[in-house]
Parts: sequence; C-alpha cells; structure tokens
Amino acid sequence: MKLKSKNLLTLSEISKKEFSELIDYSIKLKKELKKGGNKPLLKNKTLTMIFQKPSTRTRVSFEIGMFQLGGKAINLSSNDMQLSRGESIEDTARTLSGYTDCIMARVYDHEMLEKLAEHSNVPVINGLSDSFHPCQILADFMTIKENKGKLKGLKIAWIGDGNNVCNSMIYGCALVDVKMSVATPKGFEPSKDVVSEARKSTEIEITTDPKEAIKNADVVVTDTFSSIHNRDPKRTKKFLPKYQVNSELMKLAKKNAIFMHCLPAKRGSEVTSSVIDGPQSVVWDEAENRLHSQKALLVFLINA
Ligand code: CP
Ligand code: NVA
Repeated sequence: MKLKSKNLLTLSEISKKEFSELIDYSIKLKKELKKGGNKPLLKNKTLTMIFQKPSTRTRVSFEIGMFQLGGKAINLSSNDMQLSRGESIEDTARTLSGYTDCIMARVYDHEMLEKLAEHSNVPVINGLSDSFHPCQILADFMTIKENKGKLKGLKIAWIGDGNNVCNSMIYGCALVDVKMSVATPKGFEPSKDVVSEARKSTEIEITTDPKEAIKNADVVVTDTFSSIHNRDPKRTKKFLPKYQVNSELMKLAKKNAIFMHCLPAKRGSEVTSSVIDGPQSVVWDEAENRLHSQKALLVFLINA
C-alpha cells in the first residue's frame, strides 16, 4: 500500500491501479470505522497543514482522520508563519521536513506547492490550489462507486465553471475510464493541457450547452461560480441562468442520476435547493467521504 509518487499534487501522478486501490481502501476504512474503529496505522505520525485560504471540510477531515489513525495533525495559517514575513517556501519546506511526516497545503498559486514538494523530504498533499483539488476527487469517485457500484462506463456531466475541481475531475475520469462532458460559458473552460492529457485515456467533451452535456449523465456535478481565488464580483452573472443546475435541467440526465457538489454551495446560484436538498443529491456522503478517502491517502503516502 504505497504510491509510487512521493506527493499528490494533481492526480496525474498516480496510476489507474493506484487510484482504484485508493478508492477501494477508502471504502474499507469507512466500513471499519463504522464497525468500531480503525487500526492505529499512523501511530506517532504527524501531518502539518498549511492554509492560505479558508476551509471547513479539508481541515476538519484531515485533522480527525489523523486522530482516528493514531496520529496527530497540526494546523497552521500561513499568516501565522514566517512565510508571511518573506521566508521562502524552500526554507519552509526544509524546516518542516525535519519535524513532520507529511505536509498538506491549501494555496493560491499551484507553483508554490510544486516548490514545497521539491524541497520537502516528506510527502506533500495538495489541499486545493487555484488549479487543482485532487483530494476532493478521491472522495467524489469513492462516492460514485458507493452509489453506482462501479465506475467504468459511466458518464459525468460537469455544469458551470471549468475550475480547479473540474480540472482534477477530468484527471480522475481518465484514471477510471469515465466519460465526462463539461458545459461552461466561453472563456471559463477547464485547462486545455489537462483536457488533452485526459483525452489520451477517455472521452472529454467540452461544450457551451448544459442540455447537451447532461444528456445520459449518470452523475451531475457543479461547483461555485466564484472560487476563493476569483475576485471579480460580476463573475456569477456570466453563468446565470443558463448554467444553474435546477430540477428542469436534472430531468435531462438519466433518471437515476446522482447530483454532486464539493461544497460550500450557494443555493439559488449554481444549484437550486430543490436539487441539492433533493432525493438525487449525495452531497453529504460526498462531504463525509473526504474523511475516509484522505485517511486512505495518508496511509498510502506515510505508511511506507
Ligand atoms: N470541498 C472543500 O474542499 O471544502 P472546504 O473548502 O470546506 O475544505
Ligand atoms: N472551486 C472552489 C472549491 C472550494 C472547495 C474554490 O476553489 O474556492
């Protein structure tokens, strides 16, 4: 149970086999926990978390996940660190490597994570950057597998902003042979490089038509129209009303389609309450699964 890659920064660094193993192990850890508890696989191990941006799910699930595996997590706001006074990321990485077994960082600039990983002797996990959110996608595919019993051959429709979560989901689809159709307004498409890399393994359709994208979908996904790093207050207007996931649009997906959202959500914006709080929504399982899938990831990265 070990990943070849030292770090998890995008999802592109892991193999199809490793991704499937991670998902199956996440489901196993979840069952084990519900039966009474997990084994202390990370006893005396530590995770250091750095946050440049706010978080509810990522912070709490990593911290509790380490506790449930017998280890400990510490949480640092980058404002409280010497980073905020100009200490370099390289020196920070070297220093932290001497104390801790793993570093998780939520940052603006993805390059900062790459530098952190390059200069750290311990694994580095991306807890969200402006470009990727791989931990979210581990939980998402775990949730899809739990709900659909399989992954291969499914179709995911992504409606809205082609953002960091969307980029990682495209990589995820390539790892499990899932088709993905992405509907965004012009200018809000996911990364071209990510799309062309993923197209080597699966079908990724990019369109401006949400009705086209959602046709025959087994899974419908959206995210905020205004990610933490987007500062334009008029951004949301460019998506509405066309890209809102509402009951009318959901009717065009498969009858048994599930709805997913990484949260936090803005009801009445990217999704209506009739959908996110409706019978097709699996968002609470999805949020809970962050805990289980990140525990699997921590074991795979730390427990060499
Ligand atoms: N989905 C997610 O990463 O949530 P947080 O921003 O609350 O961590
Ligand atoms: N796309 C969102 C995800 C939040 C978990 C953001 O980057 O703010």
